[in-house]
Amino acid sequence: MQTINPDEYQYIVLFTGAGMSAESGVPTYRGRGGIWSEYRWEECACQEAFDRDPQKVLEFHELRRQAVLECQPHDGHFAIAELGKRHPKVVIVTQNIDGMHQRAGSENVVELHGSLWRLRCPMHGIIEDIGEKYKSYKCEHCGNWLRPDIVWFRDMLDEYNMNQAIFALRKCDLFISIGTSGVVYPAAGFPKIAKEFGAKCIEINPEQTEMSFMYDITIQSAAGKALPRLFHLT
Ligand code: APR
Repeated sequence: MQTINPDEYQYIVLFTGAGMSAESGVPTYRGRGGIWSEYRWEECACQEAFDRDPQKVLEFHELRRQAVLECQPHDGHFAIAELGKRHPKVVIVTQNIDGMHQRAGSENVVELHGSLWRLRCPMHGIIEDIGEKYKSYKCEHCGNWLRPDIVWFRDMLDEYNMNQAIFALRKCDLFISIGTSGVVYPAAGFPKIAKEFGAKCIEINPEQTEMSFMYDITIQSAAGKALPRLFHLT
């Protein structure tokens, strides 16, 4: 299998999607057994649903938190965390909201779609809350309902996070996409930007994707197996 020497690169971006977490057992959204085959996003994952019935939306997200806490990071998550410790410039850009990278020990993580472990008060801003159950559904200072800090359906992406991601994509000389179908905006544009700015682009995915043609190297394998080998960490 292809291996690379991280020391030959100045700035490395790892871009991860649902496939990365699925390997840990985190339920996916689409397809068989996916969350959206059991729940309607219109009722639990959009601003309108929250405005209508915040309790129901918060209960739904509490179930997501429980499901994630039953899972553990895999060798791929640990390989990325190890790379971050050994190399001076590693940025992880993720579409996942489950915090698995941080649990594995990664620090420099841009969460494009937000996080299951944060809530937003309209008056008092972001509140970190990491337990299985939310400490409270309402802000302790003002009593407002707390909204999960997640990019829901019909939401705009957070501009600050998006700018951080684009900055990293333009700076990097190695871009590795892992476990994303690459069809959902903005993922589809990421390899294009990295390539235009001169990065070597690698895709890790057991399946061929619609974006595979964009990459210099495609590794058709699961992330947990491919990543430790790619960086010689086994
Ligand atoms: N290792 C690597 N890739 C894997 C693995 C694995 N073990 N298992 C599955 N995959 C791949 C699948 O082949 C698929 O191409 O992960 C990809 C997952 O694709 P999507 O389900 O489309 O996930 P993603 O690209 O992250 O979707 C984007 O859509 O619903 C929204 O917010 C949600 O973040 C999500 C976004």
